[in-house]
Amino acid sequence: MNISNNKILITGGASGIGLGLTERFLEEGNSVIVCGRRADVLDDLRERYPAVVTRRCDLTDEADRAALYEWIASEHADLDVLVNNAGIQNWMDVADEDFFARAQTELATNVEAPLHLTALFLKLPALRTIVNVTSGLSFVPLTKAPVYSATKAFFHSFTVSLRHLLENRGVEVVEIIPPAINTDLGGKGLHDHAPPVADFVAAVFDQLKAGKTDITFGLSEAMANAGPNEAKEIFRRLNT
Ligand SMILES: NC(=O)c1ccc[n+]([C@@H]2O[C@H](COP(=O)([O-])OP(=O)(O)OC[C@H]3O[C@@H](n4cnc5c(N)ncnc54)[C@H](OP(=O)(O)O)[C@@H]3O)[C@@H](O)[C@H]2O)c1
Repeated sequence: MNISNNKILITGGASGIGLGLTERFLEEGNSVIVCGRRADVLDDLRERYPAVVTRRCDLTDEADRAALYEWIASEHADLDVLVNNAGIQNWMDVADEDFFARAQTELATNVEAPLHLTALFLKLPALRTIVNVTSGLSFVPLTKAPVYSATKAFFHSFTVSLRHLLENRGVEVVEIIPPAINTDLGGKGLHDHAPPVADFVAAVFDQLKAGKTDITFGLSEAMANAGPNEAKEIFRRLNT
C-alpha cells in the first residue's frame, strides 16, 4: 500500500497496536481517524495528537457501526484506508459459567464488526485499502483463548477470500499477523513478556514499504508458514 497521504480509519487506534499504527501513520503524513469505546482514552489521544479525529463507538453494536459509517460517508467521504484493528481476547474455559456470554462478545467484536465495517466501507468510492489485523493464533490456536483463536482463524480465512474478491476492484487487502505483543490485550499483565509495540510497528512499516501484503513478525512468521507437523509442534509448545 501507499503509506503516505491517506485518510485512514483505525478501529481501536487509541491503545496498544492500534496506537502504534496511529502514531506511525501520522509520522508518515496521513490523516488519521480513530474509534473506540473509552472516551478518556480518546481524549488523551487527541491531547497528544491534536490532528487526530476521534469518535466514540461500540463496535459490538450494529447501530453504532452503521452510525460510524454514515458519519464517515458524510464528513470524511475521502477516506481511503480502513484498518480493522479493534479486538478483544478472553482467556476462559468452556466449563466457565459465563463462557457463552463472553464468547458472544468476542464473536461480535472480532468477527461481526470487521465483516460489517468491510461491507459498509466498500461503499465509499475513495476506498483503496483494507488492513485486517488477525493473529499468529489464526494458524495455531492457544487453548487458553479458544474462542479468540477461532475468531482469528475465521478472520484470516475471510481476509484471504476478500483479497481475491477485490482483486479486480482496485482495493488492496493487507493482513497484519501479530505474534504476542506487549499490550493490555486480554487484561493488564497477560502480554508483559512479549516484544514492545514499537519494535512490531517498525517491522510492519518496513514490510509495507517493501510492498508486502502478509505482514508477520517473529513467531507469527513461523506460525503463518507452518506445515502440518510444524503446526503440531508449535501447538504443543504453546499449550503445554
Ligand atoms: N497484543 C497481542 O499479543 C496481539 C497478538 C495478535 C493479534 N492482536 C490483535 O491486535 C489487535 C489490537 O489488539 P491490542 O493487542 O492492541 O489490544 P488492546 O490494547 O486491548 O487494543 C484493543 C483496541 O480495540 C478497541 N476495542 C475493543 N473492543 C471494542 C469495541 N467493542 N468497540 C470499539 N473498539 C473496541 C479498544 O478500545 P476501547 O477499549 O476503548 O473500546 C482498544 O483500543 C486486536 O485485533 C488483537 O486481536 C494482538
